[in-house]
Amino acid sequence: MKIVIPGGTGQVGGILDRALRAAGHEVVVLTRRPVRDTDVHWDGKTQGSWVDAVDGSDAVINLAGRSVSCRYTQANLQAMMDSRVDSARVVGEAVAAARRPPRVWLQMSTATIYAHRFDAPNDEATGILGGTEPGVPDYWSYSVKIAENWEREQARARTPHTRKVALRSAMVMSPDRGGIFDVLLRLARLGLGGPVAGGGQYVSWIHDHDFVRAVEFLIEKDELTGPVNLAAPAPLPQRAFMRALRTAWGVPVGLPATKWMAQLGAFALRTDTELLLKSRRVTPGRLLDAGFTFDQGEWPRAAADLVSRVRGERSTA
Ligand SMILES: NC(=O)c1ccc[n+]([C@@H]2O[C@H](COP(=O)([O-])OP(=O)(O)OC[C@H]3O[C@@H](n4cnc5c(N)ncnc54)[C@H](OP(=O)(O)O)[C@@H]3O)[C@@H](O)[C@H]2O)c1
Repeated sequence: MKIVIPGGTGQVGGILDRALRAAGHEVVVLTRRPVRDTDVHWDGKTQGSWVDAVDGSDAVINLAGRSVSCRYTQANLQAMMDSRVDSARVVGEAVAAARRPPRVWLQMSTATIYAHRFDAPNDEATGILGGTEPGVPDYWSYSVKIAENWEREQARARTPHTRKVALRSAMVMSPDRGGIFDVLLRLARLGLGGPVAGGGQYVSWIHDHDFVRAVEFLIEKDELTGPVNLAAPAPLPQRAFMRALRTAWGVPVGLPATKWMAQLGAFALRTDTELLLKSRRVTPGRLLDAGFTFDQGEWPRAAADLVSRVRGERSTA
C-alpha cells in the first residue's frame, strides 16, 4: 500500500513509519521540514502540491499537531488547537478533492477526550466525554475541546469514498529516546517514580507493537468507522503503573510526590500536570468487539518487554 502520514516525523510517526516500511509499504511523510526523499513539504494549514501525494494513496494517517507536552500558556493552547483542527481540515479537503481518494483516513485523536474518572472505564459506547466533570481544574476542559474540534473536523469532511476513523489513542509506549516511556523510565531510575498525588488516577497506555497492529487492523477492517479507542484493555492506577515499571528496571524505591511537587516538577520539565494527574480510564471496546487481540495487554509484562528493548538498544549503541 501507499500510506501517507501527515505529521509523521514525531514519536508516533517514527513508530509507524518504521513498522509500515518494514512490512513492505510505501510511506510518504508530510512535514514542515522535509529531510528524506520520501518526505513531502506541507505547512499543515493550506493546500499545496502535497495533495498529489494523497491522490492515489491507499491510506492517510494524520498525526500532525503541536506537542501537548508543554506549559499550557494561552499561546501554546491556541497552537495545540489550531495545528490539529487546521491539519485535519486540509487533509479532509485533499481527500475530498482527490481523483483517486484513499480507501481510509485514520485521524489521530486522543483518549484525553474522556472524562477524568475512577469509578468505571470509558469505552466508546458507554464512556463519558470530559469537560464538565466536577473537581478538576477548569483548563482541563480545553484539552477535551481540542479533541472534540479535531474529531469534528474529520467528521464533517465530505469524503464519500473514504472511510474515516478517529484514533482515540492512549499514551503509546515505545523504547525510543524522548518518548513518554523514556521520560517515565528516567524518573523511575532517579528514584522519582512513586505515586503522584496519591497515585489513584488511572493510566491508559498502549504498547508500540500493539499500536501498530491496531492501526493495520483498522486499515483493513472495512466496517469500522468513527471513534475507536486505542488503549490496552487493562489501564491501572498510576501507583501500580509506576511500581511495575520500577520492578521491570530493578529500582527498589520510588519517592511519592504531592500535587504541589508534581506542579513544581512539571514546571521544571516545561510540561503540564494534567498529563500526570488526569485519570484516563479508557478501554478498547470497539477493537475487542471487532476481534482484535492484544499481544501486550498487561502492563507488567509490557513494561518488562520495553525495558529489555531499551537495555538491548543502549548496549548495542
Ligand atoms: N505520543 C502519544 O502517546 C500520543 C497519544 C495520543 C495522541 N497523540 C497525538 O498523536 C499525534 C502524534 O503524536 P506524537 O507523540 O508523535 O507527537 P510529536 O512527536 O509532537 O509529533 C507531532 C508532529 O506534528 C507536526 N507538527 C507539530 N506542530 C505542528 C504545526 N503547528 N503544524 C503542523 N504540524 C505540526 C510535527 O511535524 P513536523 O515538525 O515535521 O512538521 C511533529 O512531528 C499528536 O497529535 C498527539 O497529540 C499522541
